[in-house]
Amino acid sequence: MFYTQVTVLAIRVRSYKIVYMNKPSGPFLLEARNVSKRYPLGDLEVSALNGITLNVSQGEFMALAGPSGSGKTTLLNLLGCIDQPSSGEIFFDSEPVATKDEKALSILRAKKVGFIFQTFNLIPVLNAVENVEYPLLLLDCSAKERRQRAEQALREVGMEKFFRNRPNQLSGGQRQRLAIARAMVKTPRVILADEPTANLDRKTGGEILELMEHLNINAGVTFILSSHDLAVLDRVKRVFRLQDGEAV
Ligand SMILES: Nc1ncnc2c1ncn2[C@@H]1O[C@H](COP(=O)(O)OP(=O)(O)OP(=O)(O)O)[C@@H](O)[C@H]1O
Ligand SMILES: [Mg+2]
Repeated sequence: MFYTQVTVLAIRVRSYKIVYMNKPSGPFLLEARNVSKRYPLGDLEVSALNGITLNVSQGEFMALAGPSGSGKTTLLNLLGCIDQPSSGEIFFDSEPVATKDEKALSILRAKKVGFIFQTFNLIPVLNAVENVEYPLLLLDCSAKERRQRAEQALREVGMEKFFRNRPNQLSGGQRQRLAIARAMVKTPRVILADEPTANLDRKTGGEILELMEHLNINAGVTFILSSHDLAVLDRVKRVFRLQDGEAV
């Protein structure tokens, strides 16, 4: 009887903890308030997101999940201030993004947001160090400091042997590490990673996730991933599910 009660209590405590841990608390790093996005398509419009509300706290390690076409990339682009919603509001550090002009937005992105695109978007003619240096060109940073920071970021992702390799001289997993180093080099507040394991085998995908987890815990960088990979969804601390542009 006693043991049964203890077990029930333990389960209750555990489930409370899970609910508690998954519930972000303000002030939020990022907020989407009742956000919708419609894309023009000829004479028609495509509704990609419909009435999404999402709060993300500093230090979270979370994922947007949902089938192809559900709006994951669209929402990442809005949260990363690459694109603006058709209605609703995005807040970054409690400031409404819509009130910022293009110059203020590019400064915000350059300083605070790291992107890892599904296709990596690496610059083919630049080697690894030069690719990682590239985002620092937008910041007030000397050539010497750029080089030091880029090499340090590459060391952190285990790419110290590949400083001079161009992207086409790297494997898929190494390119993904390079993309992470490029996103990390400016010590952003948040890294948005669109399907970070989609092009990788299971083992390499696991290593990339481990690396992102390490950066989350040790550097305190917030991560918002998008994925339909169960290995990713099992690993993150919170999953926000989308279906046909709506939260489910
Ligand atoms: N630039 C665009 N113009 C028109 N429609 C678009 C555009 N970008 C996305 N869409 C549409 O918006 C919807 C959401 O697309 P989105 O790319 O956000 O989905 P996703 O969840 O990232 O899909 P996937 O898993 O395939 O990457 C889809 O119906 C898509 O066709
Ligand atoms: Mg997508």
